[in-house]
Amino acid sequence: MLSVIPQPPRCDHAAVWPALHHHALALRKGFDLRHAFADDPGRFAHFSQEAPHCFADLSKNLWDAPAEALLLRLARECAVEQQRDAMFAGEHVNGSEGRAVLHALLRCPRGESPPGLAWALAQVHETLDAMLAYAERVRADAGITDVVCMGIGGSGLGPQMAVQALQGMCGARRRMHFVSNVDGHELQSVLDGLQPRSTLFIVASKVFNTQETLTNARSALQWFHAQGGEDVARHFVALTTNASAAAQMGITITFGFWDWVGGRYSLWSAIGLPVALAVGAAAFRDLLAGAHAMDHHFRTAPLQANLPVRLGLLDVWNRNLLGFASRCIAPYHAGLRRLPAYLQQLEMESNGKRVDRQGRPLALGSAPVLWGEPGTDGQHAFFQMLHQGTDIVPLEIIAVQRPSHGLQGHHEQLLANALAQAQALMQGRSCDDGHRHFPGNRPSTFVLLDALTPAALGALIALQEHRVFVAGALWGLNSFDQWGVELGKLLARDLQQRLASGDVAQLDASTAGLLQRMRA
Ligand code: F6P
Repeated sequence: MLSVIPQPPRCDHAAVWPALHHHALALRKGFDLRHAFADDPGRFAHFSQEAPHCFADLSKNLWDAPAEALLLRLARECAVEQQRDAMFAGEHVNGSEGRAVLHALLRCPRGESPPGLAWALAQVHETLDAMLAYAERVRADAGITDVVCMGIGGSGLGPQMAVQALQGMCGARRRMHFVSNVDGHELQSVLDGLQPRSTLFIVASKVFNTQETLTNARSALQWFHAQGGEDVARHFVALTTNASAAAQMGITITFGFWDWVGGRYSLWSAIGLPVALAVGAAAFRDLLAGAHAMDHHFRTAPLQANLPVRLGLLDVWNRNLLGFASRCIAPYHAGLRRLPAYLQQLEMESNGKRVDRQGRPLALGSAPVLWGEPGTDGQHAFFQMLHQGTDIVPLEIIAVQRPSHGLQGHHEQLLANALAQAQALMQGRSCDDGHRHFPGNRPSTFVLLDALTPAALGALIALQEHRVFVAGALWGLNSFDQWGVELGKLLARDLQQRLASGDVAQLDASTAGLLQRMRA
């Protein structure tokens, strides 16, 4: 059933690419957002987009309708729709690893399987049901007061981000702790104050050979036994595609997933157990439903009214046609404080590549640098640079219409600040004193969720996944491998031995010098 799709052209080989360059050049010389709004009363309506659980305003970006029309032609020439359909159909779009990419199947309701994937969907629901039943059993167990989730990258960031985002639904009875780093300070500070009989350890690792996670799991097991803990089966659970490796460590309760789920796309799989434990099975199903609604939008909405497509096209426009090398993410919701870190992995691990699918060097920039902090904190830290710095950095604001707290006045202030930043970046303010002059005409995108519910969070994350897919498809990348993380892992293994032995033979002078100093 599975086949490798024929390679569509990448954006810089598309026939429309020179016209886009030409248009961007003209725009860079004379485009001004303030005039664009003054000249076109329909600009907001044209550049805003409804999508499941959210609304996005793309109108304060440095583009115009002809630019978007050319970009839509680009999407067609680069066969974005065919590439999308190939992914949803289970074709081997992850060519360098020979794998299908089916994270969207994890949120597909029973009975709605794409043709030929009913077998996989049946496995998905069987595991989901078992994982959620387990989550409910633990939730009903008053003896478990603390859950320590150990996992890194896609096995840590997603669950942590989602649990924080949905904190309001979590209840105070059970504390959730997250440990990702191999730095023992992190694990130690979590273990201090815990009791083995009231703690559940979740070891989350797709491959189950990730150094950080296994080191933390071994130390947690040691601690558990040293503190008099006995029943490992009750207190340790593994989430992995490699159950036998978990069993070798003595962890026998395992929830699995499949090689067609990439680590950074795995929140929807058993890796989501911490979320299910925190918010319950029904809310976890709502998270999946929200993501599925966005999948449906991405698969069926025409390109010009398709939010992930429009955002992905805007990303390529900003990166390659206007030359902006970074994007700042400012969630205006404290619950989304780990969203920038989550999106960093999603986008920079997916599209931070220098060769295309065929291994040919790219002739243009790929993933921008993503960074950010929640607003309003960021406003008092680095927004200075967004307003008056020498580089233009597109800002993406993610705000939430309805708060889940009852404190008077806070949310209005928060939303007013979000609006004000986008407005100030665009409008600027003229002043003869250069220090007080704001140039304005600086781009921003505004995403507004109706409320930070599980469904809206699911839709937001799926939206981001798909916009990354669209940009990767235009750049001609395999967005689903991550070979760039391997070299450092390999060298760390060698250097760990050298740190023990003191052997610096064949090392460069800097590494040798540092290593010797560490040993002194
Ligand atoms: O090092 C990168 C990476 O492979 C990520 O892609 C992944 O999410 C993370 O490590 C953790 O991997 P695992 O879940 O297999 O432990």
